[in-house]
Amino acid sequence: MDYAVRATAAEKLACDCLIVLLFEKKKLDQSTIAIDELTGGAVTTALKSGDIGGRCGEKLVLYDPPGLKARRLMLLGAGERKQFGSKALADALSDAVAELDRAGSREAALLFPAALEADSQVHAAARALVIRSEERLYRFEQCKSEKNPPRRPLRRLLLLEPGRGRRRLLEKGLEQGQAIAEGVRTTRDLANLPGNICTPTYLAEEAKRLGRRYDKLKVTALTEKQMERLGMGALLSVSRGSRQEARLVVMEYRGGKPGSRPVVLVGKGLTFDAGGISLKPSANMDEMKYDMCGGASVIGTLQACAELDLPINVVGLVPASENLPDGAANKPGDIVTSMAGITIEILNTDAEGRLILCDALTYAERFKPAAVIDVATLTGACIVALGHHISGLLGNDDGLVEEVAAAGESIDDRAWRLPMGEEYQKQLESNFADIANIGGKGAGTITAACFLSRFTEKYKWAHLDIAGTAWKSGGKEKGATGRPVPLLTEFLLRRCKQAP
Ligand code: BES
Ligand code: MN
Ligand code: ZN
Repeated sequence: MDYAVRATAAEKLACDCLIVLLFEKKKLDQSTIAIDELTGGAVTTALKSGDIGGRCGEKLVLYDPPGLKARRLMLLGAGERKQFGSKALADALSDAVAELDRAGSREAALLFPAALEADSQVHAAARALVIRSEERLYRFEQCKSEKNPPRRPLRRLLLLEPGRGRRRLLEKGLEQGQAIAEGVRTTRDLANLPGNICTPTYLAEEAKRLGRRYDKLKVTALTEKQMERLGMGALLSVSRGSRQEARLVVMEYRGGKPGSRPVVLVGKGLTFDAGGISLKPSANMDEMKYDMCGGASVIGTLQACAELDLPINVVGLVPASENLPDGAANKPGDIVTSMAGITIEILNTDAEGRLILCDALTYAERFKPAAVIDVATLTGACIVALGHHISGLLGNDDGLVEEVAAAGESIDDRAWRLPMGEEYQKQLESNFADIANIGGKGAGTITAACFLSRFTEKYKWAHLDIAGTAWKSGGKEKGATGRPVPLLTEFLLRRCKQAP
């Protein structure tokens, strides 16, 4: 959908629907009071009827409102005045957008609320409303023979704002919102594709396609042969049980000064995780096509960087493989040697994510990173700890970890830190190799991060476990979320001093 900012006076704008905000206890935003006057009290009359109060997302549509050129006037509830901010606006508005898209409005306009005062709020609100609206409008129909688009889709949303300075902020917010939404869409599309289509090779080809689209983005992919030469014995051991060749996708976005140290993002790209010889139970196993969501979010974030033309260097690494049972597959007890030279006893072949990540994390050293963030659907234990709302966050550098958490907080894509420490590291001891790939009972998310930490000692590192947040299960809602593309992009925007 298109988004744009206009200075046009509300009464002069011809469109399918003009949207104005009201708050709980029937309080009107300052901008809505002006509309009430223009319409000879249509808003207050509607309020008196009791049909609408102002709870977040409540809607009442008036047709042919007097004094306006718009065909409809939508009163949109935005919740409590005191709690109103960019999140409440995005909640309410994305709901309205979904409704208008379904009901046949083509062009709508929001009278931008006066209640958002601070510059940062105005900027953040424009951005959030695009991200959330696009999230709601997203459909995945690539594999359906009959597509089912809305009859008259919403094509454009205008933000009406008389103040020139605020218009600049809104434009910046819309632009960032659209770039992030595009990265989210790419991530969701890749993630929703099934394992038989989205293979490691397919992931690599799609990343390369992005590389051809953006000047500053260069994409290559290492083959198994090349990985063998590098000694990536852990990664390759996972791929051995699969007929699909593994890939290590390398995306280099050069927007910063030549030679300035890049942020390296590493994403788990397990295109299907059956568990290997430690086979998973069959219920809901289809959802393990989502085990490449970390990788997809890295690809989506690099796309957002390129769209925004960010003045920073960013490298994306996506180790991609399948994990299947087979005569050549890893067996419990097998010992493999990683690129770092650390030997690993594979006590459970279903703890494969860390095996492909560890070699990619070692490979990351060659970029002399300013910071490394890896993203992975790594542990079911993370869902036990944090559910489906918040991603797990761990790392070896307090400053970096706090920076990641703050970025997530400010763009409503949250992550929560879990502890690490020697007592957890001890759980990885092996009688036969340098370390085991599982940490036994308890603290599964932490011991997985401890495993990765053995390979990240040479740089500042943070780890996001997105097992609970990368997709939604079951029912109509089932599908990839595109998280944590917003968090990662916000992190990079902050490093460029371009965040709200
Ligand atoms: N991809 C899974 C983790 C996962 C499970 C993500 C369910 C989302 C939902 C990962 O490869 C895995 O199987 N982890 C094991 C680790 C265990 C064997 C130590 C797990 O979490 O059970
Ligand atoms: Mn697994
Ligand atoms: Zn996995």
